[in-house]
Amino acid sequence: MTEYTLFDPLFLEDEADGVKKLAEAFGAHGMYSQEGLNRGIGESKPQRYDAVLNYMAAHAHVPDAERDYRLIASRTNYFRETYAYGDEIYAPGIEPFVHHEGMIEAAKAIHGRAVIEPAIVFANLFLPGQELACHTDVPEFRGANRKVLPQWLLVVMKHSGLFEDWHMPIATCVSWYHDADGGAFVFYPDGADGEAVVHEIKANTAVIIDTDSVFHGVGRMQERGRPLPVLKRSMKIVPEGKGQWRLTDGDIKMESYDWQDMRLSVSWKAYCFRDETEQRMWRDKSDDLALPFILETLAKDLRDRGALGAEEPSADDLMHALISTYIHFPPPHPVLVPDAFKTVA
Ligand SMILES: [Fe+2]
Repeated sequence: MTEYTLFDPLFLEDEADGVKKLAEAFGAHGMYSQEGLNRGIGESKPQRYDAVLNYMAAHAHVPDAERDYRLIASRTNYFRETYAYGDEIYAPGIEPFVHHEGMIEAAKAIHGRAVIEPAIVFANLFLPGQELACHTDVPEFRGANRKVLPQWLLVVMKHSGLFEDWHMPIATCVSWYHDADGGAFVFYPDGADGEAVVHEIKANTAVIIDTDSVFHGVGRMQERGRPLPVLKRSMKIVPEGKGQWRLTDGDIKMESYDWQDMRLSVSWKAYCFRDETEQRMWRDKSDDLALPFILETLAKDLRDRGALGAEEPSADDLMHALISTYIHFPPPHPVLVPDAFKTVA
């Protein structure tokens, strides 16, 4: 069982309400792009190819229209902005969240590590009809992070357990500031074969877990008769005052939403170091992984398991072997893959 803590409540009521106001004061929230460029291995595939493969397999029986690429992209590309990064504050007022004592104490317990360094705070905004497929987050290793490697490969590395000496344990706290219909947070603290915990979105609550190890996803937000528009990367969700938000594309004004329609979550991620020596090793890059070592280690382990032959595999074959060997997703959960779809052949 992986350690997790539920905060209910997270803040005093006034403080919690302040977070919605802070999001409005921040202004427009742009679309989160998970695209990124990595040369070499997996360069032609989406960054989260592991999650895409699982999503398509879990939705194999839904109507074709539901599996349209543009619709899936619209459902799963939500809006995100960074509110704090290291010591930089981009959304004034977020400071009590960055340094929340309860979260720091819970983070220590998750990995049994004493030195907690808050790294980033960001907000995710979902529109009605948006969701987030089951996944584990992109982990980080000394010398290997999303700036240098495809995200699916970093996820493979974590699930393989072969690089734990270089792994940077991270605790993630996800928090909510209003009630909403749908959008439940589903997570598997007992592993992919264990029972899921379904946390309904409720104002002033939060869950802290190791999202790099624990599978999690977000159920679809209720559409209430207004289907989700096809979204483009140029679109933003812009506050218009009094809790109203407007989807825009440049000068074009589209649907409007209130808090009840949307799903705001604010996430906090913190590095969890064993001690100051380990923290220093990360800062001065004195024990970093290099790509050739990573690929040799993985290929050797695949061959030892009989998952790879003696001949040199194509990049595609290697990628599929890595994902299917090491990443074992939980079975489809009814909140993440609605039952209604399963009856349609
Ligand atoms: Fe996540």
